Amino acid sequence: MSKAINDLKEAFAGESQANRKYTAFAQKADEEGLPQVAKLFRAAAHAETVHALSHFRALGEVNETVANLEAAISGENYEVVSMYPEFIADAEAEDNKKALRSFRHAYEVEKVHEALYRGALEALKKGEPQGAELFDYYVCPVCGYTEAKNAPEKCPVCGLPGAKFERIL
Ligand code: FE2
Ligand code: FE2
Ligand code: FE2
Repeated sequence: MSKAINDLKEAFAGESQANRKYTAFAQKADEEGLPQVAKLFRAAAHAETVHALSHFRALGEVNETVANLEAAISGENYEVVSMYPEFIADAEAEDNKKALRSFRHAYEVEKVHEALYRGALEALKKGEPQGAELFDYYVCPVCGYTEAKNAPEKCPVCGLPGAKFERIL
């Protein structure tokens, strides 16, 4: 493989991680009553997203939406059938409760993501991209559980009250 392609992949992974890291640091700074530092973390986090997206596009990984949905389905499916089951077993073997809880949450939610993506792909292929009207999605801020149209009464994965869900526009 070309060195530049490899470098783009590595840089995409690093910048993506920097974005999430700074996002977590910003939340912590806010909790500590340090809003100016939180703003700095959020600004840098956004800039790392700009870098990550630029590297990802340069890799040629952004295609038409049907292909992108297929790529998303394959990524979620890999996490559900292979990655998280293995990781859950590893965490159980080492009795790492924090890792286990985090992996189980993600495992349950990736199943939902795969199903949502499959539904969207089927609708697109049938020529009905989005039905009569647009609707929003709601995401659990604890486990990431994702539901279309309305927040559930309480999160089926982690039990958080639905009122705490985040509406994604
Ligand atoms: Fe960067
Ligand atoms: Fe997912
Ligand atoms: Fe949840």
